[in-house]
Amino acid sequence: MLVSSKELLLDAQKNGYAVGAFNTNNLEITHAIIAAAEAQRAPVLVQVSAGAIKYAGIDFLSLIVQTHAHRARVPVAIHLDHGPDFETVMLCLRFGFTSIMRDASKLPFEQNVAEIRKVVEAAHALGVPVEAELGRIAGAEEHVVVSEREKTMTDPDEAAQLVDLSGCDFLAVSIGNAHGFYKGEPDLDFDRLKAIRDKVSVPLVLHGASGIPDHQIRTAVGLGICKINIDTEIRHAFTQSVRQTLAEKPEEIDPRKVLSPSIAAMQAVVERKIELFGSQGKG
Ligand code: 13P
Repeated sequence: MLVSSKELLLDAQKNGYAVGAFNTNNLEITHAIIAAAEAQRAPVLVQVSAGAIKYAGIDFLSLIVQTHAHRARVPVAIHLDHGPDFETVMLCLRFGFTSIMRDASKLPFEQNVAEIRKVVEAAHALGVPVEAELGRIAGAEEHVVVSEREKTMTDPDEAAQLVDLSGCDFLAVSIGNAHGFYKGEPDLDFDRLKAIRDKVSVPLVLHGASGIPDHQIRTAVGLGICKINIDTEIRHAFTQSVRQTLAEKPEEIDPRKVLSPSIAAMQAVVERKIELFGSQGKG
């Protein structure tokens, strides 16, 4: 069933687990995410970035996700990931998204607050919750020294102010997490996460979770992370499987035979994450 992410994340917060938010770009990835959620009886967010919209078209992608959501026995929310501007937010609301992220984290604090307030006003009028971000989540390729790294992290007092002033429903934090694969072991700042959790009452979100070791994910969930974003590990499973199939069967010309094993490979990744996040059986 298609649901708002708000009920999913509030239940996760109350019961100490995290809901997986998995990025999709096409039919095959969406099939894999929903099959995993059904197999694990887990609630799930299927999320779509501006890049995914550009690639697949919002009409196609929203229908693929929503068709799955309507058929599924588990609760499914369709979420805009890193909404780059107000226009993209409005487009997604028009296409029936049940969860919105507006990422204004690159802007100065006051402008971030103003952007989120504007989106909250529009989205809440339709009953749709809003995720904001404070601090900058780096790409894994960016090498920064520790003092610079700290400058990009979420400040706990500012986090509390942003939530109060903007009325956002969830907050994405920067605590040493990065998008893409990590070079070396990631080093999450759990003291900072705890300080944020102590000052902020809304559910917290962890981006860039591909490649974070399991024990760090468990600690983050224990400290109040309620939504965890995974993209890179799904992409990796997809393309590795396609490479392997074509290496084993170079004469294969039927796309269905190339892509079907990749759906199974992505499903396995998503199921493992659902177990790790503690959301299995919660749907
Ligand atoms: P990864 O690509 O590191 O899994 O991050 C996904 C993400 O945070 C999407 O917003």
